[in-house]
Amino acid sequence: MEDWVSVGYLLSAALFIFGLKKLGHPRTAPFGNQLGAIGMLVAVITTVLQMQLTGDGVVDWTLIIGGLVLGSAIGYWLAVRVEMTGMPELVAMFNGFGGAASALVALSEIMRYLEDASNIPEGLKLTVTMVAAGLSALVGWMTLTGSMLAMYKLKGGISVFGKWIKTPTWGPSWLNPVKVLLMLAVVALIYLSIGDPTNTDYMWGIIGISCLLGIILVLPIGGADMPVVVSLLNSLSGIAAAFTGFIIGNSVLIIAGSLVGASGLILTFIMCKAMNRTLLDVLFKSFGGSGEKASLTRTKVGSDADEVAMMIDGAQKVIIVPGYGMAVSQCQHQVKEFADLITEKFGTEVKYAIHPVAGRMPGHMNVLLAEASVPYEQLIEMDEINSEFPDCDVAVVIGANDTTNPAARSGEGPLAGMPIIDADMARTVVIIKRSLSVGYAGVDNDLFYEDKTMMLFGDGKAMMSQLNTAIKEI
Ligand code: TAP
Repeated sequence: MEDWVSVGYLLSAALFIFGLKKLGHPRTAPFGNQLGAIGMLVAVITTVLQMQLTGDGVVDWTLIIGGLVLGSAIGYWLAVRVEMTGMPELVAMFNGFGGAASALVALSEIMRYLEDASNIPEGLKLTVTMVAAGLSALVGWMTLTGSMLAMYKLKGGISVFGKWIKTPTWGPSWLNPVKVLLMLAVVALIYLSIGDPTNTDYMWGIIGISCLLGIILVLPIGGADMPVVVSLLNSLSGIAAAFTGFIIGNSVLIIAGSLVGASGLILTFIMCKAMNRTLLDVLFKSFGGSGEKASLTRTKVGSDADEVAMMIDGAQKVIIVPGYGMAVSQCQHQVKEFADLITEKFGTEVKYAIHPVAGRMPGHMNVLLAEASVPYEQLIEMDEINSEFPDCDVAVVIGANDTTNPAARSGEGPLAGMPIIDADMARTVVIIKRSLSVGYAGVDNDLFYEDKTMMLFGDGKAMMSQLNTAIKEI
């Protein structure tokens, strides 16, 4: 029996690893996702069979099957219902639930000590279990409350009885020593729990502090730094699972948790690099400021699609800069049609400039453009494409704002130091968005007001369709 369990867990771990590898490229990513899902199914079946056959006995088949059916139904309903633009919030919510689920499993294991003292391990095993349970609670509950707050920060606010309440960004400097003190308090409680494993007060204390820590760690983070937080919370949910794996002695939980923890951490550092920040800066310096939107006093006369089409007629090189607005208006197919049209009709060279945090989730633009069958070779990362803007006749910015905002080059404000797409270096800039309003970080964008910038005001899909019609009529 032991052998079969090991084979089941080995198979699911292998499926996770191959799935993760396949996620590395947009073309193979859907298959990678399926491999991961099958790996999870194998792990669940192996665990349930192991419990049933080794004499521990499954508590209640109705509960297990009911949970599977209910969980699958909710997952299916969410997957079908969620808009592409709501994906980051959904991911944040899943991170939170993942962390809480791991922490609950760890808690139930500790509760067994109350039922029967013979369940309490001895010596080093007790120390390892109590440390792992404490850390699982710390990371799991912190991930839950932090992720819920991050979800509402990504949404921009929460509706209470029909009234829209903006998610606050608040982080006075005295909060940093408080965070450190709370962490130390958790360490002290874990130490005390080792000496007295049946006293659950320590565990409840750790849970309370961890919930508070999740909130005060995410509360000060705003502006453009949310991508770092979301990927960090993703990593933490995996780490919580790995700790729980140690407590219940489940190898596949340790492997899967470590994979999520490690890949989330790698993503966190990629995001930090994209934002030109260190992780400590993001967590303790509160770049997001007050999160207040800048009040707009300047105006700019908009252009129309015919004018822009004429301008593009004479261009040899066009670089398309997509942003969150492309995701909102779902105009990726019109963008692809635009690129095809000008390549065929005017012989224009077309490339796409991809900022690592454009949109609201890692790879957001790549996913949307891949859906519209834009060739991968045309999607060029920011670092690579920026040197091409001085030779570019027209930069067409579609629903991007913060990622092109020259204010990032100054040393101040929520965007300070973030590398941007150098669209402002192009000879002419066309910007398609509905108004002059600010982007996610709430910073006014000087690029809109430059003489060489033509603003095409309107919804991305409507404007791209008008532009395509105007180009066809030339
Ligand atoms: P943003 O700075 O968020 O700006 C998007 C712009 O799209 C808005 O200014 C909006 O202007 C426009 N827009 C919205 N709906 C539109 C529509 N239907 N048609 C046309 N335009 C529309 O976008 P960005 O340049 O992609 O930057 C992303 C920001 O989000 C960064 O600050 C980044 O740090 C943050 N963020 C990113 C992530 C990840 S992982 N990518 C996660 C969380 C936060 P109008 O209202 O005037 O139309």
